Amino acid sequence: MNLPSFKLERYFAKYEFNTEFLLCSSDCEAMSIADLLTFEEGAAEKFQNTWLGYPESQGSLALRKEVCNLYTTTQPENILVHTGAGEAIYLFMHAMLKEDDHVIVHSPSYQSLSQVAKGIGCQVSPWIVREENDWALDLNELRHLMRSSTKAVIINTPHNPTGYLMSRADFDELNKIVQEEKVLLFSDEVYRESEYDPATRLPAACDYGEHAVSLGVTSKTYGLAGLRIGWIATKNKKVYDNMAGLKDYTTICNSAPSEFLAEVAMRHRQKLIDRNLGIIKHNLTIIDDLFRRHSSRFSWVRPKAGSMGFPKLLKGDIEDFCDKLVKKAGVLLLPGSMYDDFGNHFRLGLGRKNLPQAVVRLEEYLSKNK
Ligand SMILES: Cc1ncc(COP(=O)(O)O)c(C=O)c1O
Repeated sequence: MNLPSFKLERYFAKYEFNTEFLLCSSDCEAMSIADLLTFEEGAAEKFQNTWLGYPESQGSLALRKEVCNLYTTTQPENILVHTGAGEAIYLFMHAMLKEDDHVIVHSPSYQSLSQVAKGIGCQVSPWIVREENDWALDLNELRHLMRSSTKAVIINTPHNPTGYLMSRADFDELNKIVQEEKVLLFSDEVYRESEYDPATRLPAACDYGEHAVSLGVTSKTYGLAGLRIGWIATKNKKVYDNMAGLKDYTTICNSAPSEFLAEVAMRHRQKLIDRNLGIIKHNLTIIDDLFRRHSSRFSWVRPKAGSMGFPKLLKGDIEDFCDKLVKKAGVLLLPGSMYDDFGNHFRLGLGRKNLPQAVVRLEEYLSKNK
């Protein structure tokens, strides 16, 4: 297995813990364990008494029951808890794909969604989204990309990095196509429940049938990345069993304290959603104003969901711009080249409380560097 470096993660590794303003984070504002435990009477004491033996490999029953509330047709035995969404992506690909299988991947994407399949030796066709189409996936393109050797379609909506949210009609149709073609749908839904209009929330893919696997995590919408708790939900027993079998070779089971905290978080997830959407919506007004004031320098397709957007720098080279901005002004933006996008875009994070201060710093830099 040949995996090149994970560009985005290496870029963050360089700057994440030494830069004053992270203006490109994909996760929402986190909180302390103490604050999370105030959500529920008695939770602090229960946390202290958490047993530190090995927990259940598939995730505690209590946590899996809470996760089931995200879906309409799943049972706890359909949920397999992982160490973050990252582990689940890695294990899904290894469990279900082999050399020369064909895979179709929403692109640009979070790198592991395509790279792990490539590393296994799969033929990977990017299903490319374009700014001029508001970053929308085109189902006709999907039909053309399908081959007899296609084993899986990988999508991510709400989308990292564009904030694109598929329409309900398209999502219904996508599920129909995938079922007709008898391939798997791996649906990365880690930004689900962060739709700016809750009426636009899509059903989870796993509720459409056995062809689908839904991916979730506490990191993004719920702002609890430090828990490192992710999961897949699927009614496909083969996928579930194969992934569970591989997990015995990676983490075996998850951290018991994290599972307890994730259970509390998921029981009160509406509180977390309201808090984090409040931050995002406030930040969006600030970014709207910023881009209005600097319309000759930036343009964007305003996101419909999630904690990020993918604006375009209209003058200059984006890599150079981001490099100077972080070094001279202490503001981190993520150049689109980290996603192999060469359209001069950059990722802008919307989920952090200090975005207003970061924007002031960015604007000072812009005024000095016209
Ligand atoms: C689309 C997508 N999937 C999966 C992940 C991995 O999530 P985690 O780091 O919590 O494992 C990320 C993280 O940025 C992501 O954006």
